[in-house]
Amino acid sequence: MADPFLELDGVSLTYPNAKAPAIADMNLKVARGEFIAVVGASGCGKSSMMKLVSGLFPATVGQVRLEGRVIHRPTGNVGMAFQNPTLLPWRNILENILLPLEVVRKKDFRAKKAECLSEARRLLELVGLRDVENKFPWQLSGGMQQRVSLCRALIHKPEILLLDEPFAALDAFTKEELWMAMQDLWSATQCTVILVTHELREAVFLADTIYLMGGKPGRVITARSNPLARPRSLEDVYTPAYIAEVQDLRHAIGEVREVRA
Ligand SMILES: Nc1ncnc2c1ncn2[C@@H]1O[C@H](COP(=O)(O)OP(=O)(O)O)[C@@H](O)[C@H]1O
Ligand SMILES: [Mg+2]
Repeated sequence: MADPFLELDGVSLTYPNAKAPAIADMNLKVARGEFIAVVGASGCGKSSMMKLVSGLFPATVGQVRLEGRVIHRPTGNVGMAFQNPTLLPWRNILENILLPLEVVRKKDFRAKKAECLSEARRLLELVGLRDVENKFPWQLSGGMQQRVSLCRALIHKPEILLLDEPFAALDAFTKEELWMAMQDLWSATQCTVILVTHELREAVFLADTIYLMGGKPGRVITARSNPLARPRSLEDVYTPAYIAEVQDLRHAIGEVREVRA
């Protein structure tokens, strides 16, 4: 990759007051518009890596660069969604989606309210939600709330979308529907996505490249590019090629465990 869009270059992160680094000498290159997944055992530093990319924590050593510019504090370039949808219960769905614009892009929001509204509705449509804009979060299922939180993460047209186990709390059927919604959102918005997940089938469904993190402190152990054609459908999940890809990934994780043991 000649000029990566996002690059972690020899990055270590030691939290304030921590004795040992959470991440050490981590390298990662992401192309513009690429969808990457990061998998690895609990505690290996996946969420810490997301905090570095979002600028919540500056790198202790090395650099995190977006288009060559060093990230050392939070910027408006990033959208985020987590396991818990964290919608505000007193705001309706449309008001929840518009919240980042009201907070971060105040002037823009007042000047272009009609445009913002139509963007929010376009995103809702993309994730397959209609006629919910006036409802409140507690009137929606968990899967619907998570769809809304994906829309909220994208409303300010971020260049990078950070997803930290966003589907982990959902049941298997809802989860698979959300993979489809996420694939549609990604192809419509063309944003660069980093997905942290412990669900290997999910990584294979959504990502172009899958990074395996491990070690203490954490770092990238191997990267695998995903050969499966796009767009992917839920029927693909049960094809031999798909299953083989998931098994290869599982095997790679097994090797990492053996090395550590
Ligand atoms: N805010 C923090 N302060 C100190 N240590 C932290 C903080 N957040 C995470 N850690 C530590 O950093 C390591 C990696 O954690 P984390 O990035 O959350 O892993 P993962 O997301 O892969 O489960 C763990 O040992 C964890 O205890
Ligand atoms: Mg985590």
